Order: sequence, then C-alpha cells, then structure tokens
Amino acid sequence: MKGTKLIYVCSECEYTSPKWLGKCPHCGAWNSFVEDVALKETPASPKRVVSITADGGGARPFCETEAPDYIRTATGLSELDRVLGGGLVLGSVVLLSGEPGIGKSTLLLQICDTLGSHRKVLYVSGEESEGQLKLRAERLHIQGDNLFILTETNVEKILAEADKIKPDVIIADSVQTMYLDQSASAAGSVTQVKDSAMAFIGKAKSYGISVILVGHVNKEGGIAGPKVLEHMVDAVLCFEGDRRQAYRIIRANKNRYGSTNEIGVFEMTDEGLCEVANPSQMLMADRPDDSSGNCAVCTVEGTRPLVAEIQALVTPTAFPSPRRTVGGVDYNRTCLLLAVLEKRLGLRFSGHDVYVNVIGGMTLDEPAVDLALALALISSITDRIIPDDLIAMGEIGLSGECRAVSQIEQRIKEAARLGFGTAVIPHRCAEKLPADLGIRIIPVKSIFDVLKILRKERKEQAPDEA
Ligand code: TYD
Ligand code: MG
Repeated sequence: MKGTKLIYVCSECEYTSPKWLGKCPHCGAWNSFVEDVALKETPASPKRVVSITADGGGARPFCETEAPDYIRTATGLSELDRVLGGGLVLGSVVLLSGEPGIGKSTLLLQICDTLGSHRKVLYVSGEESEGQLKLRAERLHIQGDNLFILTETNVEKILAEADKIKPDVIIADSVQTMYLDQSASAAGSVTQVKDSAMAFIGKAKSYGISVILVGHVNKEGGIAGPKVLEHMVDAVLCFEGDRRQAYRIIRANKNRYGSTNEIGVFEMTDEGLCEVANPSQMLMADRPDDSSGNCAVCTVEGTRPLVAEIQALVTPTAFPSPRRTVGGVDYNRTCLLLAVLEKRLGLRFSGHDVYVNVIGGMTLDEPAVDLALALALISSITDRIIPDDLIAMGEIGLSGECRAVSQIEQRIKEAARLGFGTAVIPHRCAEKLPADLGIRIIPVKSIFDVLKILRKERKEQAPDEA
C-alpha cells in the first residue's frame, strides 16, 4: 500500500520496531513481535476515544457519585449467567476466547434464542456465511424472532447497520476478522484488532449496547492480539476443554460485574451445548473401581463444590532421571508433595516414574487437593487400594502437616450427597463441623496419620488379606 511501511509491533506492550526482535526491549516479552503496517502520516487514524463518562464535566466528589443500577439480562443458559455474575449487563463488553472448534459460535448462537425473546440481537459473523449460520441455527432449534444476522467484516458498515437496527446486543464473531477502513493495517494485525475492538467498545459505552466479542487464541493459549484488548473489555471469558471430550468449561478470567471464581460446565451434544447442572456426578461417572492410585477430592470453584477424582500411577523408572507427567494439577505442587512424602514417609519416589491425572479433564488448582493427591500417590506406590467411598481434602505443608481448608462444610455436604461414606479432613476443620452431616469424619493432623488410617481402613474392608 502506498504511504505505508512494514513495522513490527510487540503484542504485549505495543512497542514498535523497524525489524523483528526475539525479545521486546520495552516489556521483556519473548517472541511477541508481529508484522504490522505503519502509516507515514496518520491524519486519518481513528479517534481513540471510549466515552464512559456521562457528561465529561470534570472531577466530582466521590460521595456525590451514584452507583448505577446494572440491568442484567438472562442469556438463557444459567451456567453462562453464573459466570457473568448473574446475566449479561447491558452496556458491557465481553470477550469470549477459546480454541478453534471448542464451541464459541455454537454457544453464542444458542444464547441468541433466549436473548432474542426479549432483546434485539445483531449477530455479526466474519467467519461463516448466512447459509452456514442458518443451517447451524436450525440444528440448534433457534427461532430467532428478534435476531438479525450480518455477514460482514468492515466495522464501519457493521456499526452503520447497528444504527439502523438499534440492537440491544451485538455479537462479533470474531474480532480478529474485523477491520476498520481508517486503520491501515491488515485484518488480524495487532493494531486492527485493537482499533476494531475500540470501535465496538465506543458504541457499547455510548449507546448502552452489550457487545460480545469472540477472540481467537494463539499457540500458547492466550488471546491473539494486543494484551490491551483484555484491559479494554469488562469481562474476559475463556471457553476451555478437550475437543476430544464432550465437556466444556467456561470461566471468567476477568469480570468487572461479578466474581472470577465461578465456572460453567457444558456438554457438547448433537443438538449443541447442554448445561451440566451436576458436574460432580458427571466427573465421577467413569470412576474405575478396585484399582490403586485413585482418590476423590472435593474442590470449590467459586460458590460451587465439585467432586473430582485424582489418579496417580507410580512405576519403577527405566530412565536415569525419573519422569514426572502431571495433568490437571499443578506440576510444581506435585513435585513438592513427592519430596514431602519421600522425606517424611520414606517412600522412594526418586526411583519411580510418576504420572498424575484428573478424570474428566478438570483442572484443580487449589491447595485443598494436596491430601487427595498425596493419598493417590501413596496408594499407587504401596499398591494399596483406597476405599471407593473415601474422599479427602486438605493442604499439606512441608513438614507433612495437614492444614485447614476453606468452605469445609460445603465440601462435606456435597460429598455426602454423592454417597461418600468417609471424609479424611484436617483436624482443625473437623472441630468446626456440625455433628450430623451423614458422613464419617476422620480428622488428621499430618500425613503420618493418613498412612495409619489407610492401613486401618484396608483391614476393615478386607480382614483376611491383612
Ligand atoms: P464452533 O461453535 O463452530 O466452534 P468455534 O466457534 O469455537 O470455532 O463448534 C464447532 C464444533 O462443535 C464442531 O467441531 C462441531 C461441534 N458441534 C456439535 O458437536 N454439535 C452441534 O450441535 C454443533 C452446532 C457443533
Ligand atoms: Mg466460530
């Protein structure tokens, strides 16, 4: 293009350089430079103004400022509403990211159905044709009385169309395919993504329209495009899951209108995404029985307790340095626990390969899973089976002590609801619990107690064997 030259832009901090660099000298990010086009003169570059003030009338005393009443609108999928903090806030901008094929377009088309019953929705697709969208909508049984479809990638045209239709919600699938005429760079480039998002956000804030932007992810799993995109929007939702499995989890990485701890669980079926109201039951469905190395745990995601099963496989190593393959729990935490078990209980993990996995593809990232993970590891190396109806939760310290965890009553109730008979928990937690929760509580002070209990439980289950 005449009047333009190639530059390289850091996707983290937008530092520009005339040549490609491996490491950004400004923010220190590695491999963050992407090609872009710079205008020699930029008289036509768009005004980067996102108006969030009502009158722009200068500073005001904080005590006189009134909190607005957010109007939330149900999306029709209560799992998604929970993650959003109770529904989509009118006038907010949400960025939904996820790997290709995970179900972003399906999810958004599905919410159009309920949203369309009481709000006007404009679904803009830069990736699929009208025909493709229609076919998909039919498969998902979407009525869409108030739904308008537009296949367009030019943001100016989209916003002009929005001025005509006056929608309450605009869905832009995806922001990486959109471009602004005023911006000289190619669609998908850092500047274009930012300018297009800016234009949508400006519209949302000045007209009170909700905007949902779909964002692609890069190789590392982060949102493709400038980091500033995540700062500009009100909520960043990530749609995760293993494409080979039917389960999908949506979580908020940022939410100005709600908590970021909540998760929503869906199952991909022939008729689109179905909500999973009872994820614990789903996660426990494929439990193997009578094999060593398995232990159930109850974690809390936001306000919801979730029971999952940790599996460990410990086998003698054939390598000079043993392998550690860890999925679903933190790798470093697992190594730390292995060191604690080796030092305190004298179990020789250094001569064994260790594989850890969480059934159902869940990621458990709270310290309360320590005890169950330790039990799974001990069970596998000693080849002792942990009883099926035993559940464990607690944090383990470096001396092997069991530390208290939060929301223990909720966890115990969920375990009891799922039919677990015994719960191994830190003794400080046990003191706080009410008497009859319908489950036998075994308080433990350290992993030494755990080992004793395991032996005892085993004897009770199979007296002849012991
Ligand atoms: P899609 O929403 O197109 O993914 P994204 O927009 O995140 O790239 O979903 C694609 C996958 O979902 C596709 O591989 C097929 C599957 N799918 C179903 O299994 N059932 C359905 O009813 C639909 C619409 C899609
Ligand atoms: Mg899509």
